[in-house]
Amino acid sequence: IAERLGERSVVLVGLMGSGKTTVGRRLAQILDLPFVDSDNEIEAASRMSIAELFEAYGEPEFRALESRVVTRLAAEGRRVLATGGGAFMTPAIRDALKDRSITVWLRADLDTLMERVGRRGDRPLLKAPNPRAVMAGLIETRYPVYALADITIDSRNVRRETVATEIVSAL
Ligand code: S3P
Repeated sequence: IAERLGERSVVLVGLMGSGKTTVGRRLAQILDLPFVDSDNEIEAASRMSIAELFEAYGEPEFRALESRVVTRLAAEGRRVLATGGGAFMTPAIRDALKDRSITVWLRADLDTLMERVGRRGDRPLLKAPNPRAVMAGLIETRYPVYALADITIDSRNVRRETVATEIVSAL
């Protein structure tokens, strides 16, 4: 697999709660590559939490920062990179990722996503009267775009081990 990857990274895309971070950590161990989470990098670079960034500067500023961080990370190569759910929706980010890495979409259904994000109420996009409806809307608009990833893995299976192993087989 190391040979097939070459200088490329494995990049996980998908909605909030699809398991990008937990699966990504495990996948990185299996592949013996560093793990990087783009939201963490954004938080470290700005010394603010994602929620604070959204609040202080708004979503467009956050997306601009996300573009800079993710395209830089994608160019560095040879790592497992978990991206924030909206990153792959930005055309420039998507092009950079498609160019330089193997992209993996972790697909999950609405119930699974809601159950997982429910455990941490820190997603600014879901701070709405009806977060389930917001998530359903994101499934509608984003799934056709996530489908452009090189590999699609069903992440409904809650065991991250199984999901990570499935990705390894698909690489
Ligand atoms: C977002 C997903 C979040 C974070 C931000 C916006 C999105 O990342 O980047 O809240 O647009 O889907 P996770 O997918 O890691 O929760």
